[in-house]
Amino acid sequence: MTLKDQALKVREKAYAPYSNFKVGAAIVAENGETFVGCNVENVAYPEGTCAEAGAIASMIANGQTRLTEVYVVADAPMPVSPCGGCRQKLIEFGNGDVVVTMATLGGVEQKMTLSELMPGAFTEEHLENT
Ligand code: THU
Repeated sequence: MTLKDQALKVREKAYAPYSNFKVGAAIVAENGETFVGCNVENVAYPEGTCAEAGAIASMIANGQTRLTEVYVVADAPMPVSPCGGCRQKLIEFGNGDVVVTMATLGGVEQKMTLSELMPGAFTEEHLENT
């Protein structure tokens, strides 16, 4: 199954009763394995988690720590853009040249690299004096 199809499939499982905005994410790890995640909302709204966070958690739980490709899809009028927190989470595990494909259910896609999505990101290098 393509990365796109995996993201579309997991999107259907999203738990989004409060926003009704279902998101699916699929990521490729360095070893070629793919991991998926969907958003999981909560009645205590800030406790909800994004699709990207779910996919990253699955990758880490399966022993992979680097990602090489990301696909995110939602039923939006324009390609779904990872939130700021998820950009920071993605940067933790991917190089700046990793391509993130953002997509709509209708098939419109936009590709951006992590460094384009997160210019000036806070990284490990900032901790070098500690
Ligand atoms: N959401 C994601 O899961 N990923 C994104 O890239 C954007 C937003 C979720 C969070 C919340 O459950 C819903 O979409 C509406 O914000």
